[in-house]
Amino acid sequence: MTAQKYGQPLQQIPHDLINLGDYERLATQFIDHPTYEHIAGGAGDDITLKRNAFALDQLCLRSRVLRDFSSASTAISLLGTDLAHPLLLGPVAYQQLVHPQGELGTAAGAAAMDALLVVSTLSSVVMEHIAVATNGPKWFQLYMQPRREQTLSLVRRAERAGYGALMVTVDVPINGLRNRARRAGFQMPENVVAANLVGRESTPRVLADGQSAVFDGLMADAPVWTDLAWLIGETKLPVMVKGVMDAGDARRSISLGAAGIVVSNHGGRSLDGLPASIEVLPEVRAAVGDEVPVLLDGGIRRGGDVFKAIALGANAVLIGRPQLYALAVAGALGVAHMLRLLREELEVTMALAGCPTIGEIGPHCLWSG
Ligand code: FNR
Repeated sequence: MTAQKYGQPLQQIPHDLINLGDYERLATQFIDHPTYEHIAGGAGDDITLKRNAFALDQLCLRSRVLRDFSSASTAISLLGTDLAHPLLLGPVAYQQLVHPQGELGTAAGAAAMDALLVVSTLSSVVMEHIAVATNGPKWFQLYMQPRREQTLSLVRRAERAGYGALMVTVDVPINGLRNRARRAGFQMPENVVAANLVGRESTPRVLADGQSAVFDGLMADAPVWTDLAWLIGETKLPVMVKGVMDAGDARRSISLGAAGIVVSNHGGRSLDGLPASIEVLPEVRAAVGDEVPVLLDGGIRRGGDVFKAIALGANAVLIGRPQLYALAVAGALGVAHMLRLLREELEVTMALAGCPTIGEIGPHCLWSG
C-alpha cells in the first residue's frame, strides 16, 4: 500500500454517497487491494457469499396502504435492553487494517447512532479502551480459546469492562478457505494485532509425520458442546451463540442455557456451499419458538433487507463488512452515516409496506405469489 495511491479518510460525506453499495465501491480507493480482498472475499468460490445477497433479493415485499403512522417507531428490546432500532454492528476483527482509530472510530459511530456494538475477540484495540470510548450498548464476541483459563480471562475482562452480553462464535473452529485473500497475497501487517490476546501463551501442537494440520492440528483443540455448556455456567452474562445454521444446533444451544441464536454463515467466509442465512432463518425461528432472541447477518445492505429478515423471524440484524467500508472512507463519521442511511431505508420500507412498528413486521409482509 502506498500513501499516494490510497486516500486519507474523508472529513465530510460527499453528496453522492447515498447507500451502502456506494460505500463498498468507494472503499476500494481507501483500502489496499490485498486487504480489500481479505475483507470483501468469502470462502472458496464465494458461492455462499453471493447467495446471501441473492436470496435476500429474491424475496418480494407486500405493501399495505393507508395505515396510521402517527406513533411509528423502529424501537426494539433485546435481552432486556431497549434499542432505538434493530441495526447492530456485528463483530469484525482487526479494524485498524482500514483506519488508524480502528474499533474506537466504529464505537464512536455506533454511539452517535444508538447502535449496539459487538466487539470482536480479535479487535485491534483492547476491549477495555473500546468500552470507555462509547456509552452506547455493547456486547463482547468471544472466540473460545484452546485453554479454558484463557477463555475465562477474556470473559472476566468483558464483564469488568461493562459488556452486557457475550456472543460466542462457533462457526470457524478453523478459517474457511479464503481463496481471494490468499490469491491477493494478503498478510496481516505487523502493526495490527489481536490486542486482547497480546501476551497470551500459545503452545502449537507439534505434528508427527503423516499427521494432518487440520484434524490433528487446529481441530484437535476446537471447542465442543461441553465447552459451550461450561461457558454458559461460568458467567452471569447472557450468551448468544453465533454461527448457527441448523435447527437442531439452535435447539441444543438453547437447551444448554444460551440466551439466543445468531443465524450466520460468517458472511460466506466459513463453509462455502452453505445456504444463505436468510434461507435458514425460518427453520431456526421455528425450532426455538417465538420468545428466544434470534439475530441474523449475511448480506444485509439495504433497509429492505433488514425488513425481510425481521419478516422471517429475526429480532434484529448485524452489519458486517459495511462498517469497515464506512470506517475506511470516513472514520467514525462514515460509520454513523452508514447506519443513518440504513435506518432511514428501514423507515421508508416500513412506511411503504404499511408497518408502523417492528412488532407488526411478519411473514404476511412478504409476497409469495
Ligand atoms: C468477520 N466476521 C467475524 N465474526 C466474528 O464472530 N468474529 C470476528 O472477529 C469476525 N471478523 C470478521 C472480519 C471480517 C473482515 C469480516 C468480513 C467478517 C463475521 C461477521 O461478524 C459477520 O458474520 C459477517 O460479516 C456478516 O456478513 P456481511 O454483513 O459482511 O455480509
